[in-house]
Amino acid sequence: MRRQLVIGNWKMNGSSASSSNLLSELLVGLNAGRVDAAEMAVCVPYVYLSAAADAIKGSSLKLGAQNVSQFDSGAYTGEVSPSMLADLGCHYVLVGHSERRSLFGESSQIVAEKFVAAQASGLTPVLCVGETLEEREAGSTLAVVESQIAAVIESVGPEGLLNSVIAYEPVWAIGTGLTATPEQAQEVHQYIRRCLGEAGEKICILYGGSVKASSAGELFAQADIDGGLVGGASLQGEEFLAIGQAAK
Ligand code: PGA
Repeated sequence: MRRQLVIGNWKMNGSSASSSNLLSELLVGLNAGRVDAAEMAVCVPYVYLSAAADAIKGSSLKLGAQNVSQFDSGAYTGEVSPSMLADLGCHYVLVGHSERRSLFGESSQIVAEKFVAAQASGLTPVLCVGETLEEREAGSTLAVVESQIAAVIESVGPEGLLNSVIAYEPVWAIGTGLTATPEQAQEVHQYIRRCLGEAGEKICILYGGSVKASSAGELFAQADIDGGLVGGASLQGEEFLAIGQAAK
């Protein structure tokens, strides 16, 4: 059976104090056994990763980053390398989040390079894919998602995706309060799994886009949805724990 995974993406939010409070709240809940079926992780802003790594030491909570350079070291002002993230104790790193693709011009080629670099440093990349509203309305959802994944398969082959997580995040559902229906999400998840052939059966595929405690149960109950990538709702400890509890 595939594992269940719930990852929080804090995006560019919070302060030292609020990050530390949120982590404490999560640790209290996790240590009390509130979440039993899912692995829980948080993708924290770079500047708070080190403090977060100290705070979660010895707990079941895993640490992730929200972005990474495709280069391992050198004259790349402002960038953070995969080996630096691994050194800090990161387990996961998001690559190709739609905000990186649309606001910071990351092409599928760059995303693939980041994916490869992350794996080479022992990180587990979380490859984010998803269609815009225009693409959905034009009937090209499956083709868009397939081409985003194909760019990575070209570099690593389908087997290379085994040490990774895929997150299907329809762009129109991110931060908008609009969630894909469980059926819409399941259709895409099933398609992604089929595109990956044999490896597809083993890969953890998360749904993301306005996941809340109230919608998580139905989404996670779909056969091909293995958990969630959660933005806004991961900033509230109680809500994020409740989403984790929805995984069975
Ligand atoms: P959201 O964000 O849950 O706030 O829609 C999800 C994401 O961007 O990963």
